[in-house]
Amino acid sequence: QQLDMELAQIEKGGYDHFMLKEIFDQPDSLTDCLRGRLDSENMTLTLAGVEQHLSVFSQAKRIVIVACGTSWHAGLVAEYMIETLCRIPVEVEYASEFRYRNPVIGPGDIIIAISQSGETADTLVAIERAKEQGAFIFGVVNAVGSSIARISHAGAYTHAGPEIGVASTKAFTAQLTVLAMMAMKIGKAKGTLASAEYDRLIAELALIPEKVKTTLATHEAIKEVAKHYADARDFLFLGRGYNFPVALEGALKLKEISYIHAEGYPAAEMKHGPIALVDENLPVLFIATKDAYYEKIVSNIQEIKARKGMVIAVISEGDTLIRDMADHVMVVPEVDELLAPLISVLPTQLLSYYIGVLRGLDVDKPRNLAKSVTVE
Ligand code: G6P
Repeated sequence: QQLDMELAQIEKGGYDHFMLKEIFDQPDSLTDCLRGRLDSENMTLTLAGVEQHLSVFSQAKRIVIVACGTSWHAGLVAEYMIETLCRIPVEVEYASEFRYRNPVIGPGDIIIAISQSGETADTLVAIERAKEQGAFIFGVVNAVGSSIARISHAGAYTHAGPEIGVASTKAFTAQLTVLAMMAMKIGKAKGTLASAEYDRLIAELALIPEKVKTTLATHEAIKEVAKHYADARDFLFLGRGYNFPVALEGALKLKEISYIHAEGYPAAEMKHGPIALVDENLPVLFIATKDAYYEKIVSNIQEIKARKGMVIAVISEGDTLIRDMADHVMVVPEVDELLAPLISVLPTQLLSYYIGVLRGLDVDKPRNLAKSVTVE
């Protein structure tokens, strides 16, 4: 018993919890994910699994992404990435729904399965079915040699290293990184992504690990924000565009770790329901980094403030407009909007962690949750 505890302590590498260690691992896990793939000196991107099947991807009429939980949120971001860079229609499906729905799938369809563990039962069965119907299966998996990796026709590992904390953190950012590289590679091959834009994205991607480090360095400020909201009963997370899935992921992380009821919504959709909940007791967290939707987000924030809601905002460095409107802000470096989720999710991971700790909860093993759901 004593020995087990000491071993766990060593594995946590000086951090109080695996979750915190894994959040702080991200500059390294993303460097590992990019290693041997991204070469920003020669402006090249190597992704063997995609390259070997480039004609399948370039000719695809449709891509269907299947996943569960946090991996499903990575799929939603990928939908924006692939549609933008590759002009291929993408559908993102909960694996559990897809497998029972008798979906219209056949040869010429590409299924991308996203899974940290590679063992999630619903995702596994979903791709088995699709494979039987002739679809091409591509796995974006973290656990090397896992069932989903083995059953896929091809794939790309996320190389985030083992993730012990039940709530997924570093696996998510590695999934986003692989999916961005895939979209860039396919878009370039199809000619839907211009060379100059491709080069610019390669350079942007190369800067991500450093920007992750800069963001994580603000952890003390995020801990302070956590103190104001640790007793909240409900939380609303809002974002638009690439940051909409980040709002969903932020809400999921908070409810998993702190047991605070949290909902994520596309910011404009709040008028169709959630705005009824807004009063002086409801914290509303906006993912409000500088992107094409910035002006729209500003007016959404005004709408919440007009109803006396409490606003926390994840903002880009130098943004004084939202800083002045919000009750609390968490600041991140500026990033291209396609890669923004990789950075804007980080403050939400830390905020959930600190709130969970303040509430005295077991953040590494939240009640009722499993790291890998291998049964239905
Ligand atoms: C469980 C975990 C989540 C994870 C989900 C999907 O619910 O607690 O963190 O996102 O399963 O798991 P997968 O291994 O397929 O990514």
